[in-house]
Amino acid sequence: MDKKIALIKFGGSVMTPNLPDKDYIKKFIDFIERLREQYRLILVAGGGGINKKYNKLAKQINPKISNKNLDWIGIYATRLNARTLISVFGDQCYPRVISNPIQKIEWKQDLLVGAGWKPGWSTDYCSLLLADNLKADKIIIATNTDYVFDKDPNEFLDAKPLEKISWDDLRSMVGDEWTPRMHIPLDPSAIRFGQKNKYQVISLNGRNLENMEKAILGKDFIGTVIGT
Ligand SMILES: Nc1ncnc2c1ncn2[C@@H]1O[C@H](COP(=O)(O)OP(=O)(O)OP(=O)(O)O)[C@@H](O)[C@H]1O
Ligand SMILES: [Mg+2]
Repeated sequence: MDKKIALIKFGGSVMTPNLPDKDYIKKFIDFIERLREQYRLILVAGGGGINKKYNKLAKQINPKISNKNLDWIGIYATRLNARTLISVFGDQCYPRVISNPIQKIEWKQDLLVGAGWKPGWSTDYCSLLLADNLKADKIIIATNTDYVFDKDPNEFLDAKPLEKISWDDLRSMVGDEWTPRMHIPLDPSAIRFGQKNKYQVISLNGRNLENMEKAILGKDFIGTVIGT
């Protein structure tokens, strides 16, 4: 029987909050080893701290820098993170970074790594496009919060965790406009795509690998189901 496919949008906030987190990446390799018997995995890298630092620097040098150029910096940060993942995974991984999530892809390995494509959105949208292209059975957004909350938990102490949220409600919360390095549960293009195609997406804390394993294997987990 063919293995199932899970796509994990690996938030930059998880893998590279500053520089790549060596201990975490090592644990992640073990996590993948455990899952490989049942699942092939698509990992889509976010930009994280590297994006943040270079965006800040570029803005300081040129305060009039366009959003498009800020996004391009982010895209290359995601590609650097993706290339780093491919390098540490070695032969078990498809050897090239997938930058265009709608291209025809033939992969035989257990792992494939994607990154940013074009300005105007984040790798959240790339993740949904790639999941659609490769017919992933599960889509996980691995980020730095345990849940999607009713408002930003880093800003509001009384933010309430949500175990589920509809696409309509998430869209009302996030709005339709993207700006570079927006800190939101899912970017507006991803929300529109998920809503239109009636996808179900799980958002959870990517630092808790045991919990992520449970979510992929269909067991009880801590996190938010988007699109119920
Ligand atoms: N309603 C909300 N629920 C949860 N998090 C929210 C909400 N609104 C805003 N946020 C913010 O979104 C952040 C996560 O998004 P962020 O883009 O920073 O990380 P990421 O997508 O995991 O990483 P990257 O964009 O680098 O790949 C949280 O740390 C939180 O501050
Ligand atoms: Mg993000």
